[in-house]
Amino acid sequence: MSFVMPTPLRVVGRPEEADRDFRGDMLAALAASERSISPKYFYDAQGSALFDEICDLPEYYPTRTEMGILRSHAAEIAALAGPQAEVVEFGAGSLTKVRLLLAALEQPVRFLPIDISGEHLQAAAARLRLDYPGLAVLPVVGDYTQALVLPAKPPGAGRRVGFFPGSTIGNFNPEQALRFLRMAARVLRGGALVLGADLVKDPAVLHAAYNDEQGVTAAFNLNLLARANRELGTDFALDGFAHGAFYNSPQRRIEMHLFSRVRQQVTLDGQVFDFEEGETLHTENSYKFSVDSLRALARQAGFEPGPVWTDRNALFSVHWLQAPA
Ligand code: AVI
Repeated sequence: MSFVMPTPLRVVGRPEEADRDFRGDMLAALAASERSISPKYFYDAQGSALFDEICDLPEYYPTRTEMGILRSHAAEIAALAGPQAEVVEFGAGSLTKVRLLLAALEQPVRFLPIDISGEHLQAAAARLRLDYPGLAVLPVVGDYTQALVLPAKPPGAGRRVGFFPGSTIGNFNPEQALRFLRMAARVLRGGALVLGADLVKDPAVLHAAYNDEQGVTAAFNLNLLARANRELGTDFALDGFAHGAFYNSPQRRIEMHLFSRVRQQVTLDGQVFDFEEGETLHTENSYKFSVDSLRALARQAGFEPGPVWTDRNALFSVHWLQAPA
């Protein structure tokens, strides 16, 4: 039997407020004439497991493409980072991709994965510690979409290097993306951000990636309603809604919606909300970028864009963004 020592957790901000926000945000979404809710509510335990399944789907190219880029250019990234770097991962999830970076870096001093879900984070951090026994791992439970205050760099540390893979930046609207990048520029002052961003491409490729044949993305989308029924006591009829995802080309984004299949009602906290047939709850935007549009956004947030790496089909991009001194 093996025993893994629990990793000490640091909590910043008020991550527990996320649960309270779900009720308020769902009420606001249901009461609005155009209904939409933040995609952050996808990621309960079931949603996170479904997202891991999405990452392995044949149609969902971003994960394996980004991993390929990171594998091919890890040595270059490590050279830019320099020795004794401290790595900060925003929205750490299962900590798979960062291993490629950590393995290439010269004596990284500390790793700070930041995530809203303490349980998931602690388990992933404990697994990582087993594989990197010499590395100090300090998981931080916090909402990285809010202002973050991180502990000071340890003495003797080199650059602080942020890591934000997966094109999660694309799940923010442009204003939120800019706000996030400004916060990251402040937290990473004097260091840099390694950022993964999905690229604009043939809409058919995008359509397939968000409408997979096995229906995993549909289950991921519908889990939001199941989660609301579990946690908020709503009475969404799960077979009364259908997954829909399409590319909105003027906005350069995939939109995910839950379409009401019939005219129906949903109740939350004693309030009744009507859905017409075909009416939707907009659950996610996934913005796509050109290399230049991403660099322009980063520059607006105060970063100096450096090298960019892409795969040979130009599906995905990884950016080195120098944070201001
Ligand atoms: C996490 N995020 C970058 C994914 C995306 O592609 O926008 C979430 C996702 N939604 C449907 N499939 C994957």
